[in-house]
Amino acid sequence: MRRKVIAGNWKMNKLPNEAINFIDKLIPLVKNSEAEVILCVPYIDIFYSTLTAQKTNIKIGAQNMHYEETGAYTGEVSPSMLKSVGIEYVIIGHSERRTYYNETDEDVNKKIKSAFANGLKPIVCVGETLEQREANKTEEIITNQTEKALEGLTTEQVQNTIIAYEPIWAIGTGKTATSEDANNSIKAIRNKISQIYGQNVSDRVIIQYGGSVKSTNCKELFNMSDIDGGLVGGASLNPEEFAKIVNYDK
Ligand code: PGA
Repeated sequence: MRRKVIAGNWKMNKLPNEAINFIDKLIPLVKNSEAEVILCVPYIDIFYSTLTAQKTNIKIGAQNMHYEETGAYTGEVSPSMLKSVGIEYVIIGHSERRTYYNETDEDVNKKIKSAFANGLKPIVCVGETLEQREANKTEEIITNQTEKALEGLTTEQVQNTIIAYEPIWAIGTGKTATSEDANNSIKAIRNKISQIYGQNVSDRVIIQYGGSVKSTNCKELFNMSDIDGGLVGGASLNPEEFAKIVNYDK
């Protein structure tokens, strides 16, 4: 059985003192969660967040990283830097990075390999635009993105990759894919993984849904056969709301 993984993505929100207050409030609310609970925080908040979440079931993740270890890359953060401050997970290839910072499938693939080489677990985002959806290209787009992202990884690495299926038109818009649509897209991703890496692997890969997940729709989404939790943006900014999502099954 796959475990549910519920990750908050704060994006460019919260100062260190706000991160500390948030995590202090969240700790008692999610302490009995069966799901893996992750908060992907801004770089500046990482140090304070890992300290505050120490010895709890809340894991801290980053939202991006460079694929190189060191070098002349002004303004960038390396995987070993993340690891050194207690990061376990890192979001790779979020659609906002693909759109605003021109991240390509090739960059995404390099970053995933580099994350694994440094003992970090990647949460890899894939998803279609509204135009692509309306042109009936959803399945083609998301399975291609998945294939390119995972190219050259070992079977074990593929098994340990978390994929977040996030239809771009649903991110931050209040529009959610229906649970059937989201489940079908995720099934298509799983089938692609099965074709390339075998069913054993595809049965184990965690695939989340993301895009306007909130406390009122999470239960239906997370109860679908292939949806293994969520990547939550806006609704992860409030500890009570995020805790309701984590505790969707209670
Ligand atoms: P949203 O963001 O929940 O605010 O739609 C999700 C994401 O971008 O990961």
